[in-house]
Amino acid sequence: NATLGEPASPEEPAAGDYVQICVTDTGCGMSPSVRARVFEPFFTTKEIGKGSGLGLSQVLGFAKQSNGGIRIDTVEGQGTSICIFLTRSDLAEDRAETAISYDSATAQTPARILIVDDDDAVRQIAADILRDRSYDVVEVGSAGAAFDVLQSQTNIDLLLLDFAMPGMSGAEVAQRVRTRYPRLPILFVTGYADRATLAGINEAQTIGKPFRGEDLCMKIASALNRYMSAAERPV
Ligand SMILES: Nc1ncnc2c1ncn2[C@@H]1O[C@H](COP(=O)(O)OP(=O)(O)O)[C@@H](O)[C@H]1O
Ligand SMILES: [Mg+2]
Repeated sequence: NATLGEPASPEEPAAGDYVQICVTDTGCGMSPSVRARVFEPFFTTKEIGKGSGLGLSQVLGFAKQSNGGIRIDTVEGQGTSICIFLTRSDLAEDRAETAISYDSATAQTPARILIVDDDDAVRQIAADILRDRSYDVVEVGSAGAAFDVLQSQTNIDLLLLDFAMPGMSGAEVAQRVRTRYPRLPILFVTGYADRATLAGINEAQTIGKPFRGEDLCMKIASALNRYMSAAERPV
């Protein structure tokens, strides 16, 4: 809980009682000229393809729409602390369950799916959704591990590939895989920042982050159907 006085900047909320969530890092901090522009949509100091410049502008938008605000404390070379303030409620808590429910019907076509994503959390969610649909799932966190699996297990039916990974990108992995297994269906998981590099890749072959479980399953089912219904299936 935090009680705030008059705002010192336009991003801070009006004086009052708030709940405060602070995240602090020991990173590079921000220069005054960067600090002045961080809430501008699409402002980024990251290289092309890395940053969207939408992080902090979205956080500010969310906080303001919730009648709250944001405060940034930053020291160049030392780190940054960002606090989000949300209006405090004096109502009793209501713990209604809002669990997301997936239609956990069994997979239409039994298939083994290889998930390649360096982000443990994203990979885990995708794997949970697909296992819930009775797919057989193999998970790896890097391109190298993916090649190992493809070499040792001949029965992979579909590749779910993070588009932007450090080291070898998903696009490069796909190119290599295609030369050896030209028919293996590949579905790319893509973030906003990948848009520029996605030209030429069929929409049916991509699923944007964040994705809904249903959308992921539909794209996978239709990719598998196209693959399985083809006359012969030498991978
Ligand atoms: N924790 C931080 N430490 C230092 N600089 C930051 C931090 N967060 C944001 N910035 C600066 O603000 C810019 C905009 O941030 P953001 O809106 O999240 O977009 P993005 O991360 O996509 O660049 C970043 O490119 C960076 O220069
Ligand atoms: Mg960011």
